[in-house]
Amino acid sequence: MKIAVVGCSHGELDKIYDQIQYTEREQNIKIDLLLCCGDFQSTRNEADLRCMAVPPKYYNMGSFYKYYSGEVIAPVLTVFIGGNHEASNYLQELPFGGWVAPKIYYMGYAGIIKFRGVRIGGLSGIFKGVDYMKGHHEKAPYNENSKRSVYHIRNIEVFRLKQVSEPLDIMMSHDWPRGVYNFGSKEYLLRNKPFFEKEVNENSLGSKPSEELLFHLKSKHWFSAHLHTKFSATVPHKSGDNETEVKTNFLALDKCLPRRKWLEIMDIPCSDDSMELSYDLEWLTILHLTNHLTCSKATNQYMPGPSSDERWCFTPSADEKEFIRIKMNNDLKIPENFVKTAAPYDRYNRSGRIVQPDAVANPQTIALCDLLGIRDPMSNLIDYCVPEIALSPPIHSTPERLDSNDSTYISFESSFASDSGSSVCGSLRSSLSNSFTCSSPMNVPKQTKLSFPSIRKTEDSSSSADFIPFCIDRTGSDVEPSPRKVFKRRNANLYSESTE
Ligand SMILES: [Fe+2]
Repeated sequence: MKIAVVGCSHGELDKIYDQIQYTEREQNIKIDLLLCCGDFQSTRNEADLRCMAVPPKYYNMGSFYKYYSGEVIAPVLTVFIGGNHEASNYLQELPFGGWVAPKIYYMGYAGIIKFRGVRIGGLSGIFKGVDYMKGHHEKAPYNENSKRSVYHIRNIEVFRLKQVSEPLDIMMSHDWPRGVYNFGSKEYLLRNKPFFEKEVNENSLGSKPSEELLFHLKSKHWFSAHLHTKFSATVPHKSGDNETEVKTNFLALDKCLPRRKWLEIMDIPCSDDSMELSYDLEWLTILHLTNHLTCSKATNQYMPGPSSDERWCFTPSADEKEFIRIKMNNDLKIPENFVKTAAPYDRYNRSGRIVQPDAVANPQTIALCDLLGIRDPMSNLIDYCVPEIALSPPIHSTPERLDSNDSTYISFESSFASDSGSSVCGSLRSSLSNSFTCSSPMNVPKQTKLSFPSIRKTEDSSSSADFIPFCIDRTGSDVEPSPRKVFKRRNANLYSESTE
């Protein structure tokens, strides 16, 4: 199959799709899949722009909102990871991946999916040591700190990816694996980006966790963006079998601008004809087995290791994977259950004062978590229903302990998987509106009453009738500084490529 890979999209979806369709016509080919390596900027409206870590002068709507609203449909199935310039409030709704628009799929904080038998992994965000050990504690509305820390890579995602043992075809990370330039032409890189010389010579350019994953996963291809230049390298791996040469073809691409090298078309061998995205069984099993490690606190959390009393290796056994396959009803197809959770931008009805929206739980995530028996970090943050006792160690770490009648997590009507946004919205709303019982795995009953706060209408939220209208009241959150203060506080380096 033919895949197209792009570097940083920066909200330029129209231009990317135009170029892809032009290439298809010119070369008489059909591109099956588009992979975007971050800075996708899936901003649905002007309120989402306020959640993006850029100075106000870069508040540009881009073209994603047209694909979100349904005004236009993506001409090619699109899969992307997050970078450091994103509508973080929207991406946080989908920590385990999900549709941000019809035919446009986000991979979550980290994830592995399959397309036509090709196994594709992704790690969103960029590495910053100061936040690496923390839980995903951020939620909208953000302050100036959390607006940036929200996209920093966390150790739990890297730990989960390190449990993967089955071969990976493609891996994507926004920032480059540290040291990958040692396997390509450093001279070429420094000719294009001379200001990287110090970091290259000190071997400090790029992400250390991604470097570890590069040598653990040994994927056939690794795609990155972020540094806004094209660069390729071939990374050899040690192999127990001397006769098999294992290597990773690394490719970084530029950002989507005229005369930049931001697009690459590749032939990737595939093993089936299905044109739908599928969940990956090993990855789902890892998510299930490591559910107890999910943390929503700003304190450091440590992943278990060989000296731990508890289980520390979560590479799934055949039985554990089979258990998850049954739990998924033997159906690994990713459901096309996109639903709007905010009103799309209306360019004919601009509003006045725009504020950051409140955090929202996404029905796609809730449905997957319910099916898989794991917690939704965002639901947890906004105090939906996950009882504190769910934080205790491996509730479902072994198949025999998992009870299909376990009501720890919200269960929804089967109609939830419907393609219809309105029916999804309706069933979800009616399910959540009812009082229900949350019983812990220790059979300690908990009564939790869910209620829907009144919708706090932002100025730009009036134009759509079919978005999910359940927002959470803002309590104890930081007040967003005025744009003028923000502008003073930040300097020109904020949006430069040398820092974030
Ligand atoms: Fe970036």
